[in-house]
Amino acid sequence: MSEVLNIEKIAEIRANVIAEISKSSTEEEILKLRIKYLGRKGIISKFLRNVRDVPIDQRKVIGQELNILKQKLEMLFEEKLNEILNASVNPGKEISLKDVSLPGRRKTIGTLHPTSKIVREICNAFLPMGFQVVEGPEIELDRYNFELLNIPKDHPSRDMFDTFWVDWKNNNGEYPLLMRTHTSPMQARVMESSEPPIRVLVPGKVFRYEATDASHEWHFFQVEGLVVDKGITFADLKGTVYEFARTIFGSDRKIRFRCDYFPFVEPGVDVSIDCFVCEGKGCRVCGKTGWIEIMGAGMVHPKVLSSVGYDPEIYSGFAFGMGVERIAMLKYGIEDIRLFYSNDLRFLKQF
Ligand code: FA5
Repeated sequence: MSEVLNIEKIAEIRANVIAEISKSSTEEEILKLRIKYLGRKGIISKFLRNVRDVPIDQRKVIGQELNILKQKLEMLFEEKLNEILNASVNPGKEISLKDVSLPGRRKTIGTLHPTSKIVREICNAFLPMGFQVVEGPEIELDRYNFELLNIPKDHPSRDMFDTFWVDWKNNNGEYPLLMRTHTSPMQARVMESSEPPIRVLVPGKVFRYEATDASHEWHFFQVEGLVVDKGITFADLKGTVYEFARTIFGSDRKIRFRCDYFPFVEPGVDVSIDCFVCEGKGCRVCGKTGWIEIMGAGMVHPKVLSSVGYDPEIYSGFAFGMGVERIAMLKYGIEDIRLFYSNDLRFLKQF
C-alpha cells in the first residue's frame, strides 16, 4: 500500500531533505542522501511512480510539485557537494560535477635547492683543473675533526669551533663523536687512505653551535679542497684560487690574500675578492671595505702531513675551505643566509 501523497507530504519531504543536507559535511554523506531521495529506488522516484494512484483532480498538481522538488534537490545536492569539495580540495575555485572540460590539477615538480646548485657550480669550476669530488661523514670522530688537524685536546684553538657533541661515551669515558664543524677532517681521511698525488674537492654539510644572524647559520655547507704532491707551492694555491674565483665571479675580479690562522695550515690565509657591487670602493655588501672574504686557505701544516704518515720533506700541499651559502649570497646578492633553510617557496622559486 503506497503512502498518502499530497501537497503536505511533499512539503514535509522538502523540509526533511533540506535539514539532512545542511547537517551533512562529507562527500560520502551527500552521495548517500542523494541515493536515498533521488536514486532509482529513492523516495522521490517512488513517489513519482505512485502519482498514478493520486486522485485525478490532484494528480497534475502533485506531479508538478514532485518534479519541482526533484529539480530543487538536484541543485541542492550539487551545491552542497561543490561547497565540500571546494573547502577541502581546491579552496576558492568553483567545481561543477558535470564540467568535464576543466583542466586537471597540475603536479608541481621540484627543482634543485640553491645550495645544491651552487655546490655543483663550485665543483664544476674545479673539475677542469683535475680535481676529484669525494664526500665524508657528517658525524665525525674528534680524531679527524681536531686531533689529526693539529688541534689537540684542551688546545685553545678548539674555541674557534662551537661544537655539537654526540651524547655517546666510549669505554674510556670519553665522548669521541661530534657533528663535524668543518669539511677539513676529510683532509686527514683522504691522506690516510691514499698516496700522493692528491687533488680532491669535498662538498658537505657542517654544524656549529652558534647564534644565527644574517650571515651565520648553525648548519651550512662548505667545499674543502686539498692538493698534495711533490713540489706544491703557495703559487699553486694562488693560481687555483684565482681560476676558481674568475670562473664563479667573472674574469675582472681581483683577489686578496691576507695572513690568517688555522692550526692545520702554515702559512694560513683568508682569501677575499674585490666587491663586485661597488668595484672595491666600499658599500653595504662588503661592509665598506671593498673586499669580500670567500674562504680560508693555506699550505698543509707539516705536522698534519706527518700525522697521516707523509714525509713533509718530500711532500707539500695546500688546502682551502669555503662557505657555500656565502658564495651563493655573493653571486646572487642574497642578503640573509637564513633564507636558505626557511623553506619559503617565494625565495626558493627564484633559483
Ligand atoms: C674553516 O672552517 C676551515 N676549515 C677552512 C680552511 C680549510 C682553512 C682548509 C684552511 C685550510 P672557517 O671557520 O673560517 O674555516 O669557515 C670557512 C668558511 O665557512 C668561512 O669563510 C665562511 O664562508 C663559512 N662559514 C663559517 N661559519 C659560518 C656560519 N656560521 N654560517 C655560514 N657560513 C659560515
